[in-house]
Amino acid sequence: MSGGFDQFRAACQARVDQRLSGYLDANPFPCPSLGEAVRYVLLAGGKRVRPLLAYGGCGAVGGDWADADAAACAVEFIHVYSLIHDDLPALDDDDLRRGRPSLHKAFDEATAILAGDALQTMAFELLSAPGAGDRLGMVRELALAVGPQGMVAGQVRDLAAEGVESSLAELETIHRLKTGALIEASVMLGALGAGRAAPEQLERLREYGGRIGLAFQVQDDILDVVADTETLGKPQGSDQESGKTTYVSLLGLADAKLKANELASGAIGALADFGPEAAPLRQLAQYIVDRVN
Ligand code: IPE
Ligand code: IPE
Ligand code: MG
Ligand code: MG
Ligand code: MG
Repeated sequence: MSGGFDQFRAACQARVDQRLSGYLDANPFPCPSLGEAVRYVLLAGGKRVRPLLAYGGCGAVGGDWADADAAACAVEFIHVYSLIHDDLPALDDDDLRRGRPSLHKAFDEATAILAGDALQTMAFELLSAPGAGDRLGMVRELALAVGPQGMVAGQVRDLAAEGVESSLAELETIHRLKTGALIEASVMLGALGAGRAAPEQLERLREYGGRIGLAFQVQDDILDVVADTETLGKPQGSDQESGKTTYVSLLGLADAKLKANELASGAIGALADFGPEAAPLRQLAQYIVDRVN
């Protein structure tokens, strides 16, 4: 991986970490125990891929990073909410997340449910505050991506498919909904935050986001098989234990890897009309399928 990308990644991560903790400091919860729970999971690391995509999308259309701060925090708020709920006993029932006990283990289930509710609302509060770019468009983009047209539908279908072998077409739909939609929205929110993207640029970025969103979940399926729990920071083998159909269970490891790489190449291809300002997004596509956790 090039030094340029490592620098981009480290700078985005540091920036979003600072913005996330700044938000919590500036908006103390009137219920401190919930604030502590949100802090526990939000500031516990994570790769911050969705914020990176927001900064990358903003930069690709010539925007300043400052224009993507709200988008970067909002997509991480939503992502963390989705992880908290995904680990609950009623969903994937996983006890480890980001190398620490899952929130319902470190606290309790009620706290985990309510922390997810809080984080989801915080995302929309942040985006609806006055700021750069097409804020209403950003709110709508995110709502569509994570509501019953997107992530929530994906999670419902993912659970309904446990113990049943899904077709490749159904699995692709599940993955695009449960994971791809928020990833696509992360790029789009970054670009919309810049307030200067041409419609054709938005179209290309959507194509990029769609492909990389599916690739992200294919690689997640692969890592569930090939990585170890310590590297992952979440339980290895969780998919098999829950009877999930995955790209690995349907295609085998080698073809799942091929699929992830093809999607990343296609995502990079979608950026052909962009210049060097889209370099971080191109490198991010490669990172998403090469990552080890
Ligand atoms: C894990 O997401 C959940 C999926 C959507 C597959 P990440 O792999 O981005 O998790 P963190 O944020 O780095 O912990
Ligand atoms: C998670 O998919 C999707 C969402 C959180 C919406 P997974 O269930 O595969 O994610 P991990 O493997 O637990 O991180
Ligand atoms: Mg899940
Ligand atoms: Mg899970
Ligand atoms: Mg997984």
